[in-house]
Amino acid sequence: MRRFSADYLEETRRGMWDRSREALAPLSLDDRELILDVGCGTGELSAVLSEETDGTVIGVDRDRKLLEETTVPAVRADATALPFEPRTADLVVCQALLINLPDPSRAVAEFVRCSTDLVAAIEPDNSAVTVESTVSLERELATQARSHYIQGVQTDVTLGTVPELLRSHGQPGREVTDVHTQRYDHVKTIEPPYDQHAIEAAKRKATGSQIAQQRETLLAGGMSPDEYDAFRASWREMGRLIIDAMQNGTYRRQETIPFYVTVGKIT
Ligand SMILES: C[S@@+](CC[C@H](N)C(=O)[O-])C[C@H]1O[C@@H](n2cnc3c(N)ncnc32)[C@H](O)[C@@H]1O
Repeated sequence: MRRFSADYLEETRRGMWDRSREALAPLSLDDRELILDVGCGTGELSAVLSEETDGTVIGVDRDRKLLEETTVPAVRADATALPFEPRTADLVVCQALLINLPDPSRAVAEFVRCSTDLVAAIEPDNSAVTVESTVSLERELATQARSHYIQGVQTDVTLGTVPELLRSHGQPGREVTDVHTQRYDHVKTIEPPYDQHAIEAAKRKATGSQIAQQRETLLAGGMSPDEYDAFRASWREMGRLIIDAMQNGTYRRQETIPFYVTVGKIT
């Protein structure tokens, strides 16, 4: 079971929906009365939803510590056993939850049970993430780390678009119809002038601290312990090159994480 820190969620989601919110249009946020954001973590999506609706947003997560950070009312619960009556909300949505579940189907069944109108999943495809960097080693090492990580992690972190998953949870007289998906790229850019977050990220690379946290997953994904040690040494070297380049203002990096907003209507 993967655990997430509040810092990690804040770091990975910062500015995610600032570029455009067009991909959220199918959620009809203007018309919502009660939205459940399941697997809300620190409530990064919940806050965006709250900005876009006059209705109420309730966050749901099993991690009590993360819920302390949310700015919306929150309930501690498991996504596969939501403590709500059938047809409680008019939208049940998640962001980057299903990729972390061994059986995402059980959560989707709960989404359908608890919604009167829309169900939605905003999920990334981590196999399609791209990294462009002025430090050429970075692209190569990021690709290598990602490939082993995807193989080693216990759940399907490449899920992305999930139309069949939503459709398959319809029941006679309660179909999930009009299912469609829209891609939204979360683009993260580092360029001069570097902010504190960029400096901290470079330090984490130079110390190898972040990659060390992924050791077990990388080994499970086919790296031998020796390969891991050599990989971490290269990763740290990359971090030092990044810090040097930042000192003379030549470092630029762009990471693109494709997310897919899949929405279905209960009819
Ligand atoms: C990658 S984080 C995404 C958080 C948030 N939705 C976002 O996009 O920033 C996944 C979240 O799902 C939660 N989670 C994982 N399994 C869960 C489960 N079975 N029931 C409820 N929450 C769960 C984790 O605690 C974590 O907060």
